Amino acid sequence: MILLTGGTGYIGSHIAVELLDAGHQVVILDNLSNSVCTVVDRIKTISQKEVEFYKGDVRDAALLGVIFKAHNIKAVIHCAGLKAVGESVSNPLAYYDANVYGSISLCKAMEQAGVKRLIFSSSATVYGHEAEPPYMETMARGSASSPYGASKAMIEKVLEDLSSSDPQWSFSILRYFNPIGAHPSGYIGESPQGIPNNLMPYISQVAAGVLPELLIYGNDYPTDDGTCVRDYLHVVDLAVGHRMALQTLEQPGVHYYNLGAGKGVSVQEMVDAFILATGVDVPYRFAPRRKGDLAAFWASSEKAERELGWRTRKSLVDMMVDTWRWQQFTSSENS
Ligand code: NAD
Ligand code: UFG
Repeated sequence: MILLTGGTGYIGSHIAVELLDAGHQVVILDNLSNSVCTVVDRIKTISQKEVEFYKGDVRDAALLGVIFKAHNIKAVIHCAGLKAVGESVSNPLAYYDANVYGSISLCKAMEQAGVKRLIFSSSATVYGHEAEPPYMETMARGSASSPYGASKAMIEKVLEDLSSSDPQWSFSILRYFNPIGAHPSGYIGESPQGIPNNLMPYISQVAAGVLPELLIYGNDYPTDDGTCVRDYLHVVDLAVGHRMALQTLEQPGVHYYNLGAGKGVSVQEMVDAFILATGVDVPYRFAPRRKGDLAAFWASSEKAERELGWRTRKSLVDMMVDTWRWQQFTSSENS
């Protein structure tokens, strides 16, 4: 049995399906602060398997105690947390509390239950502003550009210190680049609350007519077409990476893996790819740079390929088509 925190969220729900498809049993803990419980039914529908669900918070020690007592949990995948970079600047305490304290609370409960295997959702943001792409796991963590980024770097350090204090622990720290797309079934995907911050949901909401136009933040960056470059990967590939990382938990210590496609794509190329793949127009115009954005970064995904046998399989077209299918499903539900 695997405990999956944040399992009704965007990435967690795809991990749940991937684990169930591979024959694992899954128990989800999520406080539904950024997701809805109907996702549990959708996970069941897609996988045709049962999944246990607890509505609750990773900071609730008593509830964690109940969960570890009730289930024979072998490993934990920890996706629960807050993730809006801008919001973390205006409300840092909420971010340190949910992310850092939430992770500490989970590790305490794991220690008490004698479960010492954890996969943690980290982010490429920990490489900071100083690193030169492609980012490699051997590079040091850089200075964080937001409390969100700092919270991820702090948690990584907490897990390292825990591993040093007790060599029975094994941690797999997965640094995600830019996950996009949705499950090909069209039943689960990303549901941002309010106006999206991230590029892909913004593009799909403009295409659906929910938003009038896309603003491309900056076309004067030192990149081929002047727009920012990121490493986009399909969320299903990302979920597969978690399943494959479970094997690393057999070895004690701290294991780091970048999960990215290993190549950069510009904002302009993303918009063009969406229009080409779906045949739907996306009105856009250029706007000033967004504060805090880096010009370009992408992953070296060699370590994950070498040690986990993982690499991305899905194309940019898959990412666009699956995002659009999910957007249409969401729009039809809301109409
Ligand atoms: P999400 O918001 O869709 O999912 C997070 C889930 O955690 C939500 O369902 C939310 O309700 C739940 N949650 C939040 N705080 C909780 C708490 N204290 N207790 C219990 N549940 C709680 O986000 P996501 O995109 O699926 O991200 C999952 C993880 O991956 C996060 O830790 C995020 O920081 C990390 N990450 C995401 C991205 C990305 O681009 N989406 C990139 C890098 C890292
Ligand atoms: N962008 C636009 N217009 C928009 C939204 C985004 O032009 O409306 C641009 C951004 O300026 C950036 C690119 O699209 O150049 C990607 O932006 P996202 O917000 O989608 O992604 P980021 O790379 O900024 O952030 C992501 C995650 C963060 C994580 C960061 C570093 O959302 O959680 O990667 O890993 F911290």
